[in-house]
Amino acid sequence: MDFELKSLSLAQAAQLPCDALLVLVPDARPAGKPASPLEQLMAQAAQAGDLDTAVGKQLAAYRPEGVKAARVVLVGVGNASVASVRKAIAAGLGSLKLPAVKKLALVLSLLDADDNTVRAAVQTAADVSYVFTTTKPSAKPRALRQVVVGVSQATQVRKGFETGKALVAGVEFAKEWANRPANHATPSHLADAARKLGRHARIKTEVLGQKQVEALGMGAFLAVAQGSAEPLRFIVLQYSGADKASAPVVLVGKGITFDTGGISIKPAAEMDEMKFDMGGAASVLGTFAALAELQPAINVVGLIPSCENMPDGRAVKPGDVVTSMSGQTIEILNTDAEGRLILCDALTYAARFKPRSVVDIATLTGACVIALGGVRSGLFSPHDELALALQQAGEAALDPCWRMPLDDEYAEGLKSNFADMGNVAGRAGGAITAAKFLQKFAAELPWAHLDIAGTAWKGGAAKGATGRPVALLLQYLIDQAAQAPARKPAGARKAGGARRAKA
Ligand code: BES
Ligand code: MN
Ligand code: ZN
Repeated sequence: MDFELKSLSLAQAAQLPCDALLVLVPDARPAGKPASPLEQLMAQAAQAGDLDTAVGKQLAAYRPEGVKAARVVLVGVGNASVASVRKAIAAGLGSLKLPAVKKLALVLSLLDADDNTVRAAVQTAADVSYVFTTTKPSAKPRALRQVVVGVSQATQVRKGFETGKALVAGVEFAKEWANRPANHATPSHLADAARKLGRHARIKTEVLGQKQVEALGMGAFLAVAQGSAEPLRFIVLQYSGADKASAPVVLVGKGITFDTGGISIKPAAEMDEMKFDMGGAASVLGTFAALAELQPAINVVGLIPSCENMPDGRAVKPGDVVTSMSGQTIEILNTDAEGRLILCDALTYAARFKPRSVVDIATLTGACVIALGGVRSGLFSPHDELALALQQAGEAALDPCWRMPLDDEYAEGLKSNFADMGNVAGRAGGAITAAKFLQKFAAELPWAHLDIAGTAWKGGAAKGATGRPVALLLQYLIDQAAQAPARKPAGARKAGGARRAKA
């Protein structure tokens, strides 16, 4: 899909050759004599009481006089906030989802569009026209080929436009991988996708296999993988956009390509949705795809521990005790709490990059779905500054999260008589106890955890990946790039002891 940004008055929009014009109409419009065909259309409709500017309300016209486009849809956008723009475009495109609409113009010229508005417009157009076709040859591929975004002053919103395009690349990459069934998205497939990203000049990919993971002593990760016939992969991506001495942000994505629960097996209903259990990994890959497009001045590391969680004669059993890479031992009381087991070793590994921050992203707990539903991702961090930065990035990118508590009392239930800790702590506060488990492996790191179990995909008739939280992550990285580069601490410390390198 191609996007183009144009300075476009309403008079010029009428002259634009395209299949459809979507004109966003805000509550507040300039008074004055309607001079061009589109203005006249609006004025007439308004006079007749047919122009409702509430968000998403529509008035459609076919071949109106003086307009080149065959279809014109006037869509109310209310107060023209970024969220309203997204809703309005989604609603308008819903009624324009026709195979005939190949070239579309989104006319934002009546709005005081800023970078965020334009980014949201680009993102929404891609979002609602997305079609998954990889394993469905009968699916009608996306008809929309070309989208012109028309604003009053293109030069002022160029940045938002470029960010929007990069975001589309990232979100669609994430959706593609998350949507693929588990037999088309094995750990090896994910590694291949990461290697492809590594062809970009600024991205380097390294893939570790069984032997190397054993040598690293990742006993918790190995325990999860041991029940599967699919070989595990530990994927390391490095995006270099800044000076070598600039401390990177490390993103850690949960890459369980299928979660049966293992010996603590899950019930059959909706188990297919556990193909999405690599949503965190997909969001890391997607973020790298976006970085490749946007090329911001920052260093980023992506870590993806990836395997299946299967029941088998060789599978890890409830009560087994394993030694993590950190040296801490874990009693695996429930093999379905596997995400934290693969992430804890990746967090230990992350320390070697002496990061300015570490953010893990995981479809970690059903409890988070109960707590926050599908609207906001769960955010957990003991570091106020980092938590705030992620919260703000989420708000700005319309990919919101909500901060949850991390009181030490929540860790009580993780105590074990047979190991340094158990991997579960009962049903109460399940999203928080999972985060407390991870925190034991991030002790020295400026760490945050995003539980995306409720936001990474939708169930039901609209079943499919959302591409979240790529928008949040990319925004956070852009914000970090805009700050003074965080230096790696002088006299580099050993892995495991890296401290926050403050800007
Ligand atoms: N991948 C699941 C979490 C999940 C479940 C995400 C449902 C989205 C929808 C995770 O591995 C898991 O099974 N978690 C368990 C933890 C429990 C055993 C402590 C859960 O949430 O039930
Ligand atoms: Mn599980
Ligand atoms: Zn899982």
